[in-house]
Amino acid sequence: MSQLFFSAEHVLQGGYFHPVLRKLQEPNTSIEPHNIMYPVFLLEDENGLQHVNSMPNVNRYGINKLIPVLQDLVLKGLKSILLFGIVETLPKDPLGTNADSTDNPVIKALPKLRSTFPDLVIAADVCLCPYTSHGHCGVLNASGSIDHAASVKRIAEVALAYASAGANIVAPSDMMDNRIKAIKEALVAHKLQNQVAVLSYSCKFASSMYGPFRDTMKSSPMEGDRKCYQLPPGSSGLAARAAARDVAEGADFLMVKPGLPYLDIVKQTKQQFPNHPLYIYQVSGEYAMISRCGDSEEVKTTLMETLTCMRRAGADCIITYFAPLILSIIGNKS
Ligand code: PBG
Ligand code: ZN
Repeated sequence: MSQLFFSAEHVLQGGYFHPVLRKLQEPNTSIEPHNIMYPVFLLEDENGLQHVNSMPNVNRYGINKLIPVLQDLVLKGLKSILLFGIVETLPKDPLGTNADSTDNPVIKALPKLRSTFPDLVIAADVCLCPYTSHGHCGVLNASGSIDHAASVKRIAEVALAYASAGANIVAPSDMMDNRIKAIKEALVAHKLQNQVAVLSYSCKFASSMYGPFRDTMKSSPMEGDRKCYQLPPGSSGLAARAAARDVAEGADFLMVKPGLPYLDIVKQTKQQFPNHPLYIYQVSGEYAMISRCGDSEEVKTTLMETLTCMRRAGADCIITYFAPLILSIIGNKS
């Protein structure tokens, strides 16, 4: 007999030769509609429709153009959206007054969206940067640094305004310390705490991968960068402390952003807080990269592999501009 060059107990392939058996080897990685949230850019002009040059197949919609698009996606299974307001004619000022004015596109659209889509989860991104003249996510003091107290006060006001207008989730993306506590207190004071969830962008890094989004939103800072409030990409310790702080302040859901290069942070956060649903934001730069990774079949398989790996790392819900494509892929499968 020839020399034995393998040992029977080290043969793994017997466990995954069949597609049904392979499924058993990938627990908790399925992609169902409730695992996906779709970010939507909302224009001031109610009949507006603009393509986003930096992001193929992504549009900016006025509410009248958005509703039919969402009707189609809801029929295909869409369960949740994340709203971003864009102002083009309303003035920007140092306090971001139009983040929560009655003219704000998100505040105007929320009641219509709630009545048209009673079962859809509607989240509103809460930040000042699309509305401030300086383009920073908080309020600045005379020297140009962040005025912490004034920023937290404004962010909580804006979150409360979106909650009062009908958002099911408010999602502060500004990264100012202590805003979760301020938002929760505002919700409690207005008896909204059991009708509105707080999704904290708890572990948001100062990434280069937000470029297409800032282009879309016209929300780049006029001067400086966001490194004094967004986390340094190499730091897992600050991410752990930020998540712990936001949990202590009452966050309902946590988030890691960007997604793919930060899956170690996803796993760390899920292990740290297994009882808090965890979101990943697959950001605009990731969208741009995957969109250009090959032909349409390669884009689909790369996308689904990426989502599976995000679920494996511990994500419960993935915020992704690919939501329409994902719904068509998973719809065709079943
Ligand atoms: C702004 C905000 C950003 C994103 C979501 N909210 C950009 C930033 O912080 O500069 C990024 C989304 C993306 O790149 O898709 N508060
Ligand atoms: Zn911002």
